[in-house]
Amino acid sequence: MMNLVLYIHLLAATVWIGGSVFLFALGIFLRDKDAQKKVYFYVGPIYGYVESVWLTILIITGLWMFFHMGLENVIHGENLIAPILQKKLFLVVLITIATIIHMYIAFKTNGLERTPLQKFLSRASSMAIFVLNLIILWYAMELRTLL
Ligand code: HEM
Repeated sequence: MMNLVLYIHLLAATVWIGGSVFLFALGIFLRDKDAQKKVYFYVGPIYGYVESVWLTILIITGLWMFFHMGLENVIHGENLIAPILQKKLFLVVLITIATIIHMYIAFKTNGLERTPLQKFLSRASSMAIFVLNLIILWYAMELRTLL
């Protein structure tokens, strides 16, 4: 069972991170404004739903492993794992908040003009998701090495 949950956790991490890297690349390399608008208009909502499902799966499978491995007894202790686990979980909280902000603006303004504040929040949150993912992946790897 543990292996299956870890497998799903890894699959979800692959899809979730892969998607965020791909959409980030689109934002940079798709220079044509009209094409960009169209792509985000049609692909955006599908991407948003799909990605939020995978993030939810990541959190559920992560919590499942957390409790089945007894990590709730480890996270506050004097050991090598605690600080890494705490950092990973803290960043997961941040990435979840950034995702909620990003999706809220995306769905509210899909196909409409954005105010400068909406533009800023949308860009800042997508940048945050991208960078946080790379750091979370690093902590996940360090954690796995120790467990
Ligand atoms: C954005 C969210 C997350 C991402 C991208 C992510 C990514 C990963 C990855 C890639 C691994 C495997 C590391 C390796 O094999 O080297 C992993 C393992 C693990 N994750 Fe997550 N994770 C996320 C959220 C969570 C959450 C919310 C929890 C727990 C509350 C969690 C708990 C764990 C545990 C316990 C392992 C280790 C399992 C083992 O080594 O047997 N993860 N995670």
